[in-house]
Amino acid sequence: MAFFGLFGKKKEPLVPLRELGLKCDMHSHLIPGVDDGSPSAKDSLNLIAGLGRMGYKKLIITPHFMTGFYNNTADGVTRSLEILNEGIARQEPEISLEVAAEYYIDYDFMHDLGSKPMLTFGNKMLLFECSFTNQHRNFDETVFEMQINGYKPVLAHPERYTYWHGATRLMQEFHDRGILFQLNILSVIGAYSPSVNKAAMALIDNGLVDFIGTDLHNPNQLAVIENAMIPVSLFEKLKSLNLLNNSLL
Ligand SMILES: [Fe+2]
Repeated sequence: MAFFGLFGKKKEPLVPLRELGLKCDMHSHLIPGVDDGSPSAKDSLNLIAGLGRMGYKKLIITPHFMTGFYNNTADGVTRSLEILNEGIARQEPEISLEVAAEYYIDYDFMHDLGSKPMLTFGNKMLLFECSFTNQHRNFDETVFEMQINGYKPVLAHPERYTYWHGATRLMQEFHDRGILFQLNILSVIGAYSPSVNKAAMALIDNGLVDFIGTDLHNPNQLAVIENAMIPVSLFEKLKSLNLLNNSLL
């Protein structure tokens, strides 16, 4: 994993990222074998134990739902969670698990929205993601459909969509329309690319962050998150955000 220009220019004291005090994570891929995240129950247990060491007490796990790639169903992932929970209850009794979903906004998602209950967290919060390459043609309509069906849309990692980089006013508009924003912790520490890191900083500077999620898939990412040290000025900015993570406990 490459890292890009966070700690370069001026020397500042560093603070462990885990001291942010986040106790609930609401974006990860830790149900074994259902998407591109954890491949086995053993891996899941190790990843969950790692998040426990960071101070997390509740993990809302969000498998990908994407037609043609990850054909998950609510019943299927709920059953998988129950099996995982048996191991967690024995090995990590202080951590509670829930399952929701990270929905990709495709045709099936639009169809299911009005016809079956969706996997949500908190008060009908629905995590969704978009294409990384092209802005969805019906993005506005899709958001509206979520809202008229009673859901609160939570956009996963808005900083990772390159077509919205630099579009702070548009992001503010989305937020004003009731879309909640979930920033990836890996974006904050520069683990994707300089442009994603810059977009993350713009969202932080404008207070456009409602949740910080791990989006954890694998042990490499866990090691990065667990050992991350961030400049104290960034730490203070993150602490001053009105984050909703711990309201989900
Ligand atoms: Fe994800």
